[in-house]
Amino acid sequence: MDGNGRWATAKGWPRLVGHRKGAERVKEIVRCAPDLGIRWLTVYAFSTENWKRSTREVLGLMSLFARYIQREAEEMSREGVRMRFIGERKRLDPKLQDLMAWIEERTRNNTRLNLTVAINYGGRDEITRAIRAIARRVEAGSLPPECIDETVLTDALDTIDLPDPDLVIRTSGETRVSNFLLWQAAYSEYEFTPVLWPDFTPEVLADIVGRYGHRERRYGGVLG
Ligand code: IPE
Ligand code: MG
Repeated sequence: MDGNGRWATAKGWPRLVGHRKGAERVKEIVRCAPDLGIRWLTVYAFSTENWKRSTREVLGLMSLFARYIQREAEEMSREGVRMRFIGERKRLDPKLQDLMAWIEERTRNNTRLNLTVAINYGGRDEITRAIRAIARRVEAGSLPPECIDETVLTDALDTIDLPDPDLVIRTSGETRVSNFLLWQAAYSEYEFTPVLWPDFTPEVLADIVGRYGHRERRYGGVLG
């Protein structure tokens, strides 16, 4: 969800106004996703690198996350949205951690849309943490090194309950991966759009999803 800052700056507003508008867009996209055939939606809200921003912006984003959970809990329950989080949680404010655990529990039986929010998430950090956890099992003697295969690593990631993404969309004209789902996106399709996230309407998403439907995916094999 890139481009909130530029969107606000271009209008002469503080960056946080862009983030607030961005959160409104998340709501709309969550509402329309099931109608577009999307069952799994993951949004990248805060990366392990985003701590480098000003304290004001970091705190603003954190309180936006907390408010989103509190304000949207009702509607998500009503609309069958199951909310999960990926990323390293321990660095987050304990109150935010509590809210995250609370909404995950509250929405756990919902099945219409699986919404995952990546907060303090980095693909490299996630893989590093997974390897550390696997190493502990090896050290404890419960996992022989020769039994470590792709499944063992996949199951040690934050995304253990999630399917690999079919399509990764990056907004705001940047054509980088920026540490997002590095392992999981090995065979994903990518879409790069110049649209800034605060301008990312359901119509823009519908257009991208429509074009995605015409792509041919071979996963390294040949068709037919
Ligand atoms: C939102 O866009 C991404 C978040 C970290 C919340 P940016 O804040 O990166 O916006 P730009 O790139 O400065 O325009
Ligand atoms: Mg950016």
